[in-house]
Amino acid sequence: MKHFINLKDIPAKDLRRILIDAKKRKKARKKLSNLDHDKGTPLKGKLLIQMFEKSSLRTRLSFFLAISQLSGRTLTLRSDELHLSKGGESIEDTAKILSSFGDAFMLRTDNDEKLEEFKKYLTIPIINGLSPFSHPTQILSDVFTVEEIKKRPISKLNITWIGDSNNVLNSLIAASIKFSFKLKVGCPKKYQPSKNIMDYIKKNKNKITIYNDPKKAVEGADVIFSDKVISMNDKVDKKKKLRDFKNFKINKNLLNKCPKAIFLHCLPRGSEVDENVFKSKQSKVWLQALNRVHVQKSILLYCLGKLR
Ligand code: CP
Ligand code: NVA
Repeated sequence: MKHFINLKDIPAKDLRRILIDAKKRKKARKKLSNLDHDKGTPLKGKLLIQMFEKSSLRTRLSFFLAISQLSGRTLTLRSDELHLSKGGESIEDTAKILSSFGDAFMLRTDNDEKLEEFKKYLTIPIINGLSPFSHPTQILSDVFTVEEIKKRPISKLNITWIGDSNNVLNSLIAASIKFSFKLKVGCPKKYQPSKNIMDYIKKNKNKITIYNDPKKAVEGADVIFSDKVISMNDKVDKKKKLRDFKNFKINKNLLNKCPKAIFLHCLPRGSEVDENVFKSKQSKVWLQALNRVHVQKSILLYCLGKLR
C-alpha cells in the first residue's frame, strides 16, 4: 500500500512507472466507452471513498471514471454531513471506519495537516486531491499530457509557469525535480515561491529561474502553464491581487513569442488568460482535463499495489 500526498515524497521511478502504465491503458481503451471496464478488471470489488472539503468538477468526475474503468466503485461523502466536520468525531475514529469500509480514500482538503493526520490512522491509502500546498494528481497527469503532445520526454522540454506561487506550482516544482526538466516561473516579485520552496529547489540543485517579466519567462518555451490568480484557499484582498497580476495576463502578444508552445491550464480559469488564447490551437486544456482519468487510474493501481 502506498499513499499519494505530495510528489516530492514519491520516488521518481515510481512516478515514471505510473505514467508508463497510464500510457498503455489509455492506448488499450481507444474503442471503449467511458464506463467500459479495462481488461483484467484490476480493482474489482474495491471501493474508493472520496471527500471534498472544497469545490471540484474535474477531480470528482475523473476519479469516478478512473475507479469505474478499473471495475471498482466510488462513494462520495459530503464533508459537511460527517460528524468529523462538526467536531463530533475525531480523525482517528473516522479513519478507522474509512479503513474498514473502503479500500482507498481520496481527500480534497483546506488543510494539509489533515492529510498527514489521516495518514497516521488509515490502514488504506490516502490520495491528495488538492490541498493548499499541492495538487499532485493534476501535475502528474499534466506531465503525461505534455509528453503525449510533444512526443518527447519532459526532461528535454522548456516549461514555463506564468502565475501565482500556489499549490499547482508547488507540485510543478516538485515534478521538475523528479523528472529533471527546466522550469521558468513568471510572476510579480511579491508573489514568488516561499523561502521553504526556494530552499527545497536549492537543496535539489534544480534549474528553476524566476522572472518578474512574463516576456522573459516565455522565451523558448515548449509549454506554458497557468492557473487562477486567486486560489480557493486564498484569503487576500482579491481586487488588489488581480491588479498586481495585470501585466501577467496570457494574451496573444505573449503567445506569439513562442509559436510552438502549447498552453495548459488545470481549470477552472479566471482572468489570467485571454479568451482567444484559451480557445486557440495552441491551447490543449480539454485533453489535459481528460487525461486526469488515465493517470489517476494508474495512481490508484500504484496505491493499491496493483501497478503492472
Ligand atoms: N483542475 C481541477 O482540479 O479541477 P476541479 O477543481 O474542478 O476538480
Ligand atoms: N490553484 C487552484 C487550483 C484549482 C484546481 C486552487 O487551489 O483553487
